[in-house]
Amino acid sequence: MADYAVASYLKDLESQFTIPKDKLKEMTLIFKNELEIGLTKIDGMLKDLPTFVYNLPDGSEVGKFLTADLGGTNLRIGLVELLGSGEFKIKKDSVMIPEALKCGSGRGIFSFVAENIEKFLEHPEIEAELPLKLGFTFSFPVKQESLAHGQILGWSKEIEARDVIGQDVVGLLQQSLHSRNLDIAVEALINDTVGTLLAQIYRDPRTKMSVILGTGSNAAYVEKSCNITKISHQEPSELTVINIEWGSFGDTKSEYNPNISNLLPSTKYDLELDFESKNSGKQRFEKMISGMYLGEIFRLIIVEMIQLGLIHKSEHFEAMKINRPYSIKTKEMSNFHEIFLSKNYEKCEEISRTKFGVSGAKSEVLSKICELISLRSCHLCAVGITSVHRHLLNSGDLSKDHLFSVALDGALYQKYPNYSKILQNLVCEMENVEKDEVCRVVLVMAEDLSSIGAAAAIAAAQKKQITN
Ligand code: GLC
Repeated sequence: MADYAVASYLKDLESQFTIPKDKLKEMTLIFKNELEIGLTKIDGMLKDLPTFVYNLPDGSEVGKFLTADLGGTNLRIGLVELLGSGEFKIKKDSVMIPEALKCGSGRGIFSFVAENIEKFLEHPEIEAELPLKLGFTFSFPVKQESLAHGQILGWSKEIEARDVIGQDVVGLLQQSLHSRNLDIAVEALINDTVGTLLAQIYRDPRTKMSVILGTGSNAAYVEKSCNITKISHQEPSELTVINIEWGSFGDTKSEYNPNISNLLPSTKYDLELDFESKNSGKQRFEKMISGMYLGEIFRLIIVEMIQLGLIHKSEHFEAMKINRPYSIKTKEMSNFHEIFLSKNYEKCEEISRTKFGVSGAKSEVLSKICELISLRSCHLCAVGITSVHRHLLNSGDLSKDHLFSVALDGALYQKYPNYSKILQNLVCEMENVEKDEVCRVVLVMAEDLSSIGAAAAIAAAQKKQITN
């Protein structure tokens, strides 16, 4: 196939994946407004879930806590020691969540968590610390009723475990712990965004927001309690934390602007990915941003290029099952892109043949596709961060000269080549920062901190009880 056919295909892809500036502005405005609607209504496009975290840590908290952190890919069990002055120590074990559990019974997942807590307690030095209180980071949407209770609203990140929707997460874990005769009290239930935010506040009280860019994507921020008018009871503290669940942005029509039918700049690849996914029609913003999905978008493009005769199947195509959804992971795409940027073109050729199952594909063509997909993810994330910042400026909670420090975590942010740098630049660009001005929005890496946040949530709540 002639080079010009590939060039014209790439050009077309570029126009599909590039979000025009006006569209970014429109999305930012609508996101901000939907964020505000979510604080007043329970059925908004953005869930804006109240977290019942009423005591933000101040860095002085101390104590030892057991933590369990269930994400979309891994389960981490830890012993966290808060040392005060924003310092901590952690000892942790990590295990991958078996694929079979992700589409089995929901109770199986909680039993898996309890089983791994039991194993962790077998370390003699951990057992010696018992009894310990447990902070549970559960990275799925939950409607909380208190700090240690909340109903599962649904799964995301291609998990669809049965039978537990609407049930109390803590009750399910507590039952599984009791059936193993483990006398452990779950004292806090938090989302991973909330854990990351609390941990970073523990280290630096100026932190106002957190974003996860991992298997899934979501954000949390500190809100004035009086702005959350959708809950009937009086919040007992001036500030609390909102789990936005931003993955659902664009899933329904904008209440603020119902005439916009295509809020998200979805391509045919996004539509196909969504159609084939386990939660079709849901989490469509997340599906354009997060690590669970970027590799799959890349795969859909590769398969199309093969069908069009622009590239060819290599001898590894069948073995690597490239025709199967999710057979190319974002990690592999990221690795390829990194190797390309380091100019090791020979290695790139090898990866395209052995991992992506294609031959005759120029490395610069594949790397351009990686760039388009990851850059669009960065732009959409920047829309979310800028919207939250605008909301806080608008509601008078933050002044323009204040530093807006955002804690970020997740493998995409940590490992995708240049992602963190590009995102910081895009955010400053969207803030209209002039050349000689300082950008007030500062993104900070908060690596693997959500368990620390779970411990800080318990410690801060305890401290409050003592001082009362
Ligand atoms: C998904 C979950 C959300 C979580 C995010 C990051 O979007 O719904 O609760 O915070 O993934 O893990």
